[in-house]
Amino acid sequence: MTEKKKREHFGSKIGIIAAAAGSAVGLGNIYRFPCVAGENGGGAFLIVYLGIVLALGIPMMVGEFVIGRRSQKNPVGAFKALAPDAKGWPLIGYMVVLCGFLILAFYTTVASWTLESVYKSVINYYHGKDLATIEQGFNDSINLTVRPLLWQAVFIFISAFVIAKGISKGIEKYSKILMPVLVIILIVLCVKSLMLPGASEGAKFLFKPDFSKIDSKVLISALGQAFFSMSLGMGALITYGSYVSRKDNIVTTSLMVGLSDTFIAILAGIIIFPAAFSFGIQPEAGPSLAFNTLPMLFNQMKGGYFFCLIFFILLVIAAWTSALSLLEVVVSYMTEELNLSRRKATIYSSVGVFIISILAAMSLHDGSGLTIFGFTVFDGLDKITSMVLMTLGGLLTVLFLGWKIKKQDFEDEFTNGGTVNKRLNKIFYFIIKYLAPVAIAVIMFSQFLM
Ligand code: TRP
Repeated sequence: MTEKKKREHFGSKIGIIAAAAGSAVGLGNIYRFPCVAGENGGGAFLIVYLGIVLALGIPMMVGEFVIGRRSQKNPVGAFKALAPDAKGWPLIGYMVVLCGFLILAFYTTVASWTLESVYKSVINYYHGKDLATIEQGFNDSINLTVRPLLWQAVFIFISAFVIAKGISKGIEKYSKILMPVLVIILIVLCVKSLMLPGASEGAKFLFKPDFSKIDSKVLISALGQAFFSMSLGMGALITYGSYVSRKDNIVTTSLMVGLSDTFIAILAGIIIFPAAFSFGIQPEAGPSLAFNTLPMLFNQMKGGYFFCLIFFILLVIAAWTSALSLLEVVVSYMTEELNLSRRKATIYSSVGVFIISILAAMSLHDGSGLTIFGFTVFDGLDKITSMVLMTLGGLLTVLFLGWKIKKQDFEDEFTNGGTVNKRLNKIFYFIIKYLAPVAIAVIMFSQFLM
């Protein structure tokens, strides 16, 4: 395929790994993974989750890179370009762009809690406080009107600024250095957490699976969480794939990104559950797991003030690089398909995100009454995107790869024109063509049967 327009490409191999890992590692690992694991029985969830990452997540990641690099386009353009005769397929593109937009709206709310935690760390708010006070403080700050919205505005602004200027690669470069620091802090925290009195109960919760807990809700939650954490099913990696150079090995990239993302989520689990059990926080406690357990843990540590501050700053950066990948999908669609300037596209999309994110944040106020389908707007957006749009996006993406584009085209991208990964090609192609669609469809539809 010849490239008509010269497109930007990631400068180096580490460039794409850094960008994709930047997209994958975020609030999904530290905040959402413990929440979902806690609600779904811990150990049983973890086993299902790992199975899904390996059997579906990594092949899907490769698949998204294949579509992006082959087409050299944003998701809407990509489906059009690779199947020009097939009318319905570009609709997937629209769906994933919408999905990215909706994810951003509630992601920003969680990012605002992270900024609030940075603020509280700076003023040394946590110091010496007990759990009840910290929990109350968290709930109070969610119920405030102005400050959460201010943090949301700050978060959207820093993301929009980077996207408008097209300098996200600069950010990825820094996060390449900073994320290993985050991992080191996480490892230190693991050790600390496991040494707390009563920690072993939490470790058991995460690592001792009770298989009787596996039901259709656990399956769909694990699938949704795997897609969310690996940034799959909504075109983020199609878009990034379009910037990947022809020489990069997308299979090893996907393995590295997928496994490190999972490693970080598990580290978060090893920190949060033992500590939560030790402090008496329920595994179903939701946001409290990350945002209250961790400050309590820092309180117990020498140098806790600095650890806490640095940790939350790094978490903001991790969330930021994830948000960039979400916003980039929406903006690349608007610039390439609607012919808007990058600046205008960024302004329109971020103002739109901000408006919905206000609703999401307000819906968490006590007695706000802002609900959709019986959930708060915040939870509703989370559930609709992870359980419906992303899984459907993923299903259609694998169907498209397996049944719509030419086998030869897939192989050509997968093997870089026959130079690498020749043996793996057959296995991955089989997974994408048969196993993944059946598995995703069964998990999706089991909701209605069980
Ligand atoms: N993966 C990110 C996280 O774990 C969130 C994210 C970024 C995302 N881009 C995405 C989720 C695309 C789904 C699709 O925090």
